[in-house]
Amino acid sequence: MITIVGAGRVGTAAALFLMMKELDDILLIDIVEGRPQGEALDLAHAASILGLSIDIRGSTDFRDMAGSDLVIVTAGFPRKPGMTREELVGKNAEIVADVAEKIKEYAPNAIVILTTNPLDAMTYLMYRKLGWPRERVIGFSGVLDAGRMRYYAAKKLGVSPAAVEAVVLGQHGEKMFPVPRLTTVMGKPLTELLSREEIEEVVRETVQAGATITKLRGYSSNYGPGAGLALMAESIKKDQKKVFLASVILKGEYGVHDLPASVPVVLGRGGAERVIELPLTEEERRGFMESVEAIRANIEQIPKQYLA
Ligand code: 2OP
Repeated sequence: MITIVGAGRVGTAAALFLMMKELDDILLIDIVEGRPQGEALDLAHAASILGLSIDIRGSTDFRDMAGSDLVIVTAGFPRKPGMTREELVGKNAEIVADVAEKIKEYAPNAIVILTTNPLDAMTYLMYRKLGWPRERVIGFSGVLDAGRMRYYAAKKLGVSPAAVEAVVLGQHGEKMFPVPRLTTVMGKPLTELLSREEIEEVVRETVQAGATITKLRGYSSNYGPGAGLALMAESIKKDQKKVFLASVILKGEYGVHDLPASVPVVLGRGGAERVIELPLTEEERRGFMESVEAIRANIEQIPKQYLA
């Protein structure tokens, strides 16, 4: 069973994309009575209409997650127009710390994917609270950022986004680090396909993508996160060992110790089974480290009582 904690916009979009893949039964958990049950019922009707063989339930009782092998945490406050993700740290630390206790108690063998912002700091908090191997605590971010970069690059290139492999490393925040040289079409880097101005625009659009959506419609993204979460869940559940950009605790890779950052990881039954180290130029390394320092600064803003 896949548990989704948080039946808000991201949680329900994830449930919808997951449902379409018929990977496993889905449990939606939320603290607001009626909301997870109502969302689950609507989704279950949709599954029935589509003839999908899947059970979708909603609950406000965390004990119902018992037996889950995958828990997707979407609980927390989303950002409002004009806010940065980083500003959510205090509000969401309490929620993530609390959800970690519940997961530890009721789904002790699960792999956890987390989407709560500020993503990297909350991934760190979840990792510390659970005390589990780093393979089993995965921050969702890079798939979204790279998906956006590939979209904006593809528009400029006049090719399908599927033809573009994009690389965005480091923080899921203002200091995320898109890498044009490692963003390729059939192995040909963006730096040889677009002008410097065009690349700067792609990078800017990518970094601002989340804020752009929030500004346009008044609330933050959910379909992008939902789609990415479903792909990551599929790779884990089916042991596909596909490679995704995701935030994991680095243990010396990229010269970083005990801090999370978005890097390529192999996702299989064991979770984030392996980190792939990309060769970076000196300048790229500096950009990546700036991004990591922003993550460190954000982690330092987590109220200490939650890290105890
Ligand atoms: C985004 O980038 C909300 O962080 C989320 O859209």
